[in-house]
Amino acid sequence: MREPGRFICGKQPRTRIQVKGRLPTGNLQKPFGWPPSSPFVHLDEVRPHPPLKARYETLSDKPDYVNRLFDKGACHYDGIVDWGFFRTGGAYRKWVQERHGLKKGDRVLDVACGTGLVALAASRILGTAENITCLDPSEGMLAVARTKLNATFVVGRAEALPFPDNSFDFLTMGYALRHVTDLEETFREYQRVLKPGGKLLILEVTKPRGRIPQFLFRAYFGRIYPTLTQLFTRSADARDMMRYYWETMDACVPPEAVLSALATVGLSEVNRYTQLGLFSEYTATKPSPSKGCDPSHRHA
Ligand SMILES: C[S@@+](CC[C@H](N)C(=O)[O-])C[C@H]1O[C@@H](n2cnc3c(N)ncnc32)[C@H](O)[C@@H]1O
Repeated sequence: MREPGRFICGKQPRTRIQVKGRLPTGNLQKPFGWPPSSPFVHLDEVRPHPPLKARYETLSDKPDYVNRLFDKGACHYDGIVDWGFFRTGGAYRKWVQERHGLKKGDRVLDVACGTGLVALAASRILGTAENITCLDPSEGMLAVARTKLNATFVVGRAEALPFPDNSFDFLTMGYALRHVTDLEETFREYQRVLKPGGKLLILEVTKPRGRIPQFLFRAYFGRIYPTLTQLFTRSADARDMMRYYWETMDACVPPEAVLSALATVGLSEVNRYTQLGLFSEYTATKPSPSKGCDPSHRHA
């Protein structure tokens, strides 16, 4: 067994993750009519982006590919996102969870916890990490997270959560939506493990609208950020991780598709809030079962 916290960057054995259910094999259709002949939408499945052929052959190769990428880049991740987002990451992750209703006593699941940045911010609001469960498929990322907080750590994937129904009050996912294989399958799992009335908060960086913002966004995330990453870390793996970050953002479905998938699985109060036009905060609530009509309260 591997020892937590002693994961050596770039030298990890592969973690094989089982992909649950059927993988897309054709039969294109448009469940919500967006966009015409969409390569994102397959029968019963909504992909966050089409397969990136230059990175992996087929969609079934994606989980292993992504896993290796994050395993190798794990020891550089915190440093890169710290300066890459101008040291605002910790404060923002706390602020956004506070604003969307995280409160003391909540049982929290942080999916795609990575190195624990969202969970760490949550623990500052809760005053403890003992009610926080962190899940991620990358052993490398988890090894870094384990050094930071005393939460429960689980190796797993968003599409097949190893938790009973109705387990959590608050479920977060930070900057990882692009890495799942199927949005609806993932959101169905979120809906299942949330308690009735429980809240979902998904954070993403989304391409801004408008030609000039898009030009600046592409220049920063597509070129400047990966190049500076290579320069500061001297690691080709870290550069590759940030290059992939850009490629998936560039290819990602528009926010409307994410909102549509959230509503499709039966979540309510589905919303998207944006900061500076590029930080997306998707929120939703698991509906409480309707109490129905209590005959004893009927007025004649
Ligand atoms: C960019 S990091 C985000 C880490 C952290 N949430 C944050 O706010 O910085 C993306 C994480 O998603 C994880 N990931 C990739 N595929 C996943 C999946 N199918 N289910 C859950 N997590 C996944 C990766 O291992 C990685 O740790």
